[in-house]
Amino acid sequence: MPKNKGWGDRYRRILESLGEGILVITRKHRIVLSNKSADDILGWALPLSNKRIEEVFSSGELIDSLDSVFLDGKSRQIRLVSYHEATGNDAVLRGKGREKQYRMNIQMLDEKYAVISIIDITKIERLDKIRQDLVSNVSHELKTPLTAITGFAETLSSEELSMEEVRAFSRIILKNSSHMQRIIEDLLLLTSLDRNEIAEAMELTSDERILMEVRAYTQYKAQSRSVSVTYEPQGVNAICSESLIVQAVMNLVVNAISYSPEGSTVSVKSRVKNNMLEFIVLDHGFGISEEDMPRIFERFYRADKARSRESGGTGLGLSIVRHIAIIHHGTIKAESKLGEGSVFTLSIPLS
Ligand SMILES: Nc1ncnc2c1ncn2[C@@H]1O[C@H](COP(=O)(O)OP(=O)(O)O)[C@@H](O)[C@H]1O
Ligand SMILES: [Mg+2]
Repeated sequence: MPKNKGWGDRYRRILESLGEGILVITRKHRIVLSNKSADDILGWALPLSNKRIEEVFSSGELIDSLDSVFLDGKSRQIRLVSYHEATGNDAVLRGKGREKQYRMNIQMLDEKYAVISIIDITKIERLDKIRQDLVSNVSHELKTPLTAITGFAETLSSEELSMEEVRAFSRIILKNSSHMQRIIEDLLLLTSLDRNEIAEAMELTSDERILMEVRAYTQYKAQSRSVSVTYEPQGVNAICSESLIVQAVMNLVVNAISYSPEGSTVSVKSRVKNNMLEFIVLDHGFGISEEDMPRIFERFYRADKARSRESGGTGLGLSIVRHIAIIHHGTIKAESKLGEGSVFTLSIPLS
């Protein structure tokens, strides 16, 4: 430790600059010092100074560990889940009774004091859970078509079949492998959107060009379901990733067609509002219930599984739209009434 004058202040500043929360605790569990990160992490328990640790965390494990550290001088690591009831403003900001997860290291400083360093791992744990869920969802989604492919390929290779049967089974294999291919393509697209490599894809284009492309890509689908789709571009230029916006609007139009009865009509319009370019896709289809509404933008969520499967959906279309909106600093909004129809509005900034 340098003896030069002024280092006390530097140590204090080093302590303040740490990303880990630091608490210094007496043998009697009283907090005598906390750094800025500790104040941030434990914001709901402020002020920390002079509080007993029991007033901050109601964890028997933490107290036991702390006492053990003072007894034998060996440091301890614990993970702690705390459900704190937030109050007042805090409740509004953080939500009531939020679960938080911490990793803590407790170490003896000297006879009188111990140091607890705290890392808030709530976010890391949540991301980890999302990743685990995604892996399990993807495996599940791929397993169903793969099982069909394997089953029919086995039959094809081991049994005497009529030409008609061979054709029928081959078609099933083709349908299921195309479905797997679509899932993989959508997942790859989502991954590339996650990497956020959009800057170089920005270009000058127009709503007319975008809607013309969407029409070309979705014409076959519309015809096959006898749904008539009208397009009304306003005629404005915009700077965006043309291919991604085409992809997003196309996903909305494909949904509007897929989730409408045969012979129905779909309207696709664009307009400028509050310096945003809006694409509005309106259908008179089956609509979405209030319970399903908050979840339709989640990966693999489908309100109507049978209909989605029949239309060749992957359950990823809307989460792709949401991602594309976000990376353009735009928004996606859905309104719907069960049995009456839906309106999806994708908005992106004009400049
Ligand atoms: N225009 C719409 N009308 C009714 N339901 C819709 C519409 N768009 C989306 N949905 C519902 O939201 C779910 C998720 O949509 P999406 O992410 O595109 O997946 P999918 O591949 O199933 O179409 C669909 O399965 C469907 O239940
Ligand atoms: Mg879809």
